[in-house]
Amino acid sequence: MTEAKRATKADLERIDSIIAEGREERWGLIPLLQEIQQVLGYIPPEAIPGIARGLGLFPSQVQGVITFYTQLYTAPRGKNIVRVCRGTACHVRGAKTILKLVKQQLGIEEDETTPGFEYTLETVACIGCCALAPNIVVNSNIYGHLNPKKVASIFSHYGGH
Ligand code: FES
Repeated sequence: MTEAKRATKADLERIDSIIAEGREERWGLIPLLQEIQQVLGYIPPEAIPGIARGLGLFPSQVQGVITFYTQLYTAPRGKNIVRVCRGTACHVRGAKTILKLVKQQLGIEEDETTPGFEYTLETVACIGCCALAPNIVVNSNIYGHLNPKKVASIFSHYGGH
């Protein structure tokens, strides 16, 4: 289960100084959000009202942009990002079972992060190497032609398990 993590006072102060810098440099909302994410690894939801105030927007507008851009996150992510392909080629070659095994192995569901922030689990539509189906990607490493035995061995390379 993803551990709830609240931004510290220091995180919020850091965000305030990024907002101030952004105002000075006349950044738009997206560059500002990207900078906050770059520094903290995510955009704490409790920072949204301050971000909105800094840019003269409504918090709902800031939230809307964060929701729209899949590259912006409001929760901390794991050190390793695991993406299980659920595209057609992988699906017909057993992606459902692979996903189930990965979930078991990591002890989390889709879109969750392990309590120690080692892994975040996601699914993707196609990773572009259908000939190797079924596939998963861990960070930038592709693991293809997967079977249960291979799945079991993958995560020992990344630690935390
Ligand atoms: S469908 Fe999985 S890589 Fe294309």
